[in-house]
Amino acid sequence: MSKFNTHQPVFNLLSEVAQQQQTRAFVIGGYVRDCLLKRDFRKDIDVVVEGSGIDFAKAVAAKIGKDVQVAYFKNFGTAMLKYDGLELEFVGARKESYQRESRKPIVENGTLEEDQARRDFTINALAFELFPLNEDVIDPFGGLQDLENGILRTPLAPDQTYSDDPLRMMRAIRFATQLHFTIEAESLNAISRNRERIKIVSQERIAEELNKIILAEKPSIGFKILFETGLLELIFPEMANLQGVDVVQGKAHKDNFFHTLQVLDNLCQTTNNLWLRWSAILHDIAKPATKKFEPGHGWTFHGHEDKGARMVPEIFRKLKLPLNDKMKYVQKLVLLHLRPIVLSKEEVSDSAVRRLLFEAGEDIDDLMLLCQADITSKNKEKVKRYLANFELVKIKLKEIEEKDRLRYWQPPVSGNDIMVSFGIKPGKEIGLIKAAIREAILDGIIPNEFGAAYAFMVTEGEKLGLVLQRRLETSISDSEPL
Ligand code: CTP
Repeated sequence: MSKFNTHQPVFNLLSEVAQQQQTRAFVIGGYVRDCLLKRDFRKDIDVVVEGSGIDFAKAVAAKIGKDVQVAYFKNFGTAMLKYDGLELEFVGARKESYQRESRKPIVENGTLEEDQARRDFTINALAFELFPLNEDVIDPFGGLQDLENGILRTPLAPDQTYSDDPLRMMRAIRFATQLHFTIEAESLNAISRNRERIKIVSQERIAEELNKIILAEKPSIGFKILFETGLLELIFPEMANLQGVDVVQGKAHKDNFFHTLQVLDNLCQTTNNLWLRWSAILHDIAKPATKKFEPGHGWTFHGHEDKGARMVPEIFRKLKLPLNDKMKYVQKLVLLHLRPIVLSKEEVSDSAVRRLLFEAGEDIDDLMLLCQADITSKNKEKVKRYLANFELVKIKLKEIEEKDRLRYWQPPVSGNDIMVSFGIKPGKEIGLIKAAIREAILDGIIPNEFGAAYAFMVTEGEKLGLVLQRRLETSISDSEPL
């Protein structure tokens, strides 16, 4: 059995070029690691050559012929090209030393082993040779053993590896989360010691690693390490701030950091949607800011959903997450996250369900997933009761949605209908009448259909002193937003 799928044509090609160029060349890094871990097959292959990566890439391109595009990054001495659905990256083996205040390496040519030593983790320094092509793993730093034992260890002293490139602290935590590996103790201490160096890493790269942690099967693993090493406080202080329990008059509130992580892990069992996962991270973000102890009552966090939603844009801006409809979506879910839970505690009225459907719109199913994940009491009976009530809310939502079609709401009577019917120009009366119709539908006074809404419009208009000029049988414009 081929460990590294070396029967693929690409390996033959690379092997021939290595022979022709009389250059030692190796496959290294993520491709080797993931093949050994039997993870999903990778589409990117890193090749390290003892010589010039750029010259090697040129020779590969010449051999492929046709119109192959090569991207050269002269400053880094790397080149990239696509072949057979794969992305190949070439780099010259180097012994690097880094400038202290940036992540830019000063590159000097080196041997394979020198190059392996300068990589982040022993499991990422594994390599095999291309000519003669064979699958024997070249492993001077014990990476195979670490792979076997599930350990993340740096090839050199960890202080040096992390200080050289502080992004590796995030990578260590990301790999620990993705692979369920343990960061070796000395390495973990070094992350704590070097944490301030994260400040020289660009926010985009930090966000990329953070998102990979969030997309893992159990993101709490990564967030706990980020917290324990002190990195979380530096990169995402609002989240670190959730941690802690206050006790007044013998009453404690729950630790919102660990609660948030539990909600996040719960949610991860039902969705891979990154932004829905972000809404779990942020759902209680304003709890520290709204926390109050009310004597005789206990701890309250009034308005945390509203304040939390207002905090979202600034957090997204600082973390360099997209400031577009994804942000708006997270904001909406944070704002509405208590609503289904409130419904599940009360006798559920049709109009409350209708209002929720109206406000959540097409995101109602995601909101329900978030809320279900938020039911986390230690008291099993309580959880069972809430979940049972929650099922009732879901049934009710379905019933009302089928009846009222509120998910993709369009007002049955448009602003144009109102103007034509009463012979009036745009003005505040139109907004007032439309709002009155919407409220009547949400309260269940009239059904969500043209005939009933039109009759209601006539009465509301008359209340405002308007006189019907022309009676409509159907809406004249049915695509106008509310
Ligand atoms: N590498 C490193 N230090 C970094 C980034 C990368 O030493 N800060 C090395 C590692 O040997 C790594 C290889 O470069 O395996 C390729 O990096 P990259 O493609 O970013 O990561 P992968 O290990 O391939 O993993 P993934 O694709 O999951 O990010």
